[in-house]
Amino acid sequence: MVKGIGYGKVILCGEHFVVHGSPAIAAGISNSAVVWAEEAQANDISTDVRVVPETSRRAITAILDAMGIKQKYKVIMESDLPAYGGLGSSAAFSVALVRYMSYLHHMDLNDAQVNRFAYEGERVFHGNPSGIDNAMATYGGVLMFTKGKSYSDNVLDRFQLGLPLHLAVGMTGKFGATAKMVESVKQFREKDEDKFGQLLDEARELCHNAKADLERGKLEAFGKIMNQNQSLLEEVGVSIEDNDRINRAALDAGALGAKLTGGGGGGCCIALAKDEAHAGEIIKAIKKIGYGAFYTTVR
Ligand code: MEV
Repeated sequence: MVKGIGYGKVILCGEHFVVHGSPAIAAGISNSAVVWAEEAQANDISTDVRVVPETSRRAITAILDAMGIKQKYKVIMESDLPAYGGLGSSAAFSVALVRYMSYLHHMDLNDAQVNRFAYEGERVFHGNPSGIDNAMATYGGVLMFTKGKSYSDNVLDRFQLGLPLHLAVGMTGKFGATAKMVESVKQFREKDEDKFGQLLDEARELCHNAKADLERGKLEAFGKIMNQNQSLLEEVGVSIEDNDRINRAALDAGALGAKLTGGGGGGCCIALAKDEAHAGEIIKAIKKIGYGAFYTTVR
């Protein structure tokens, strides 16, 4: 049976600031959302994963409308992406749905078209998304993304890592509502444009340096950038105590760097390990303080 698939992602550098025009770097992971669908009287979702059904229904409708599909569907989703945020689960769902509908309706969409339609789902899930999550779910790999003035001005700069990244992903278990966190950063900006401008410049510089370090396989240098990036995220108020505790445990276990990834306010953190065995030690340390954790690698 044919199914649509969309992959999750980790943001290595620059989340939130990317919504305001500085770049961000993201990498695809192997965790994914898989969907198929049955025609129905009304658009609906059926899944074991924790979702907000009303929002999912609206996202399905937005995607089908954008694709010019008149029929209604019950969409069935299976996913091994933690549902509480940070790893692009909603974008993975949107991309998987577009791919499945493209197959079902013989549309033969290319990746750029898949990405464009999936963005309509992301707009429902996230209000004002930069577009990085659906780009990652569509293309995978590693990319530096810069949001343009309009969708067609977005810049996707794909590049190769000099060395693979071995990551421990720590899960706060707290649902980080990305739309709410994006809105809170907007309010931070409105309250203090100057301060936010400074942070945005710092984020921009960090991402450019991160790209150079990642391309050259300079993992220690990149780890330091992760920590600096985390400090910026703390300054704009999107890192909660659970994120900080996970990062601290990872760093105490020798992680080269640790930060929240994605929207924050809970969700997930990533810690950079020296190798796979070291990632295992970091995972143990995170579990020891009461959080879930798993290993993923980015190549
Ligand atoms: C969410 O994965 C990343 C954010 O920067 C939001 C976005 O870019 O749409 C927080």
